Amino acid sequence: MRIGLLGFGTVGKGVYELTSARADMQVVRVLCRRELQLPDAEVTHDFNDILNDESIDTVVEAIGGLHPAFEYVKAAIEAGKNVATANKAMMATYYDELLPLAQEKGVYLRCTASVGGGIGWLSELERVRRVEAVHYVGGIMNGTCNYILDAMARMDLSYEEALGRAQALGYAEADPSTDIDGIDTWHKLIVSANVAFGVSLDITGIPAAGIRNITKKDMDTFKKHGLLCKLISTGKYIDGVYAAYVQPTLIPLTDPEAAVPMNYNLITLAGDISGRQSFFGQGAGRYPTAYNVVQDCADFLSGRGFYCAYGKKVGVCNEEKYSYYVRGKVDSWLEENTEETWGKAIVTKPVSVQKMHDWLKANPDAFIAALPRKAL
Ligand code: HSE
Repeated sequence: MRIGLLGFGTVGKGVYELTSARADMQVVRVLCRRELQLPDAEVTHDFNDILNDESIDTVVEAIGGLHPAFEYVKAAIEAGKNVATANKAMMATYYDELLPLAQEKGVYLRCTASVGGGIGWLSELERVRRVEAVHYVGGIMNGTCNYILDAMARMDLSYEEALGRAQALGYAEADPSTDIDGIDTWHKLIVSANVAFGVSLDITGIPAAGIRNITKKDMDTFKKHGLLCKLISTGKYIDGVYAAYVQPTLIPLTDPEAAVPMNYNLITLAGDISGRQSFFGQGAGRYPTAYNVVQDCADFLSGRGFYCAYGKKVGVCNEEKYSYYVRGKVDSWLEENTEETWGKAIVTKPVSVQKMHDWLKANPDAFIAALPRKAL
């Protein structure tokens, strides 16, 4: 396999290092903005040098972000090249363009590193689907948020101190809003649910609430009630209805998610036959992420493309109900739905995910967290 590598940052450099020790795949050209000398690959500033090189059969996209990553990947697929990528934003946003195009052109496309870094999550979903239907995916998919929430709970740090540490450790995305507002988790949930259920979810109906407004006082209140806060994604397919959302969720200390430390992820699926299976590991970082990109390239060598066929476009219906912890301005809707007060916050009667997230959109300074309920 001759690889054209797009990007030589954290992931790109890792892929270069891991493949240079292998006989079955070589990075022959690298697209990089910086001046760079590599012993066994040509470095270029021009993507066309990779696109027009007919000896390159596989493109590894490690630029990240939507543009120009999407345009490059689309052009590579159109030119008949396989693509391995770790780019969850691109895969979630352009699922409807990239997957049908890859299938039409008969090229392989995989993105295992895009969810869970080094965890074999999407590749395991592919295996699970060979035997049974999946009716739930979700869990802790963002290392930065987990680090912040864990540091606040266990080290008694303020939100700002914990975020500062996550940034210093290199866990956060360049713009930490993507992590703390739940967007990174939202991208990973969309890709996971699409693969798990073999459909293309309408992303406009999938809400995400993040942890930006959480305070130390909220944490202390949760502790008093024997609960921990985690950012949890949920994707479900039950009785013909799809649901998908991301929200801070209060977890009993006995739940496996409560034990997830630092920047780790814990991602779970529930299958009709096998029941619950959870996957724990490093959700980010150079070598875990590069590892799964190399796994994708190895899968290409054994003839495996995307994890599932492109499925129909479906809407989501987020009518299931939770009681929510809400700290924010109490308006008439909230007053009507108040069950009890927890310090300066209220706990609602059971309200639908849709209604709660609609309220949050109109009250962006508030913090919400769903109270525990059986998710699977
Ligand atoms: N910023 C992401 C995280 C990196 O914290 O999980 C991996 O997608």
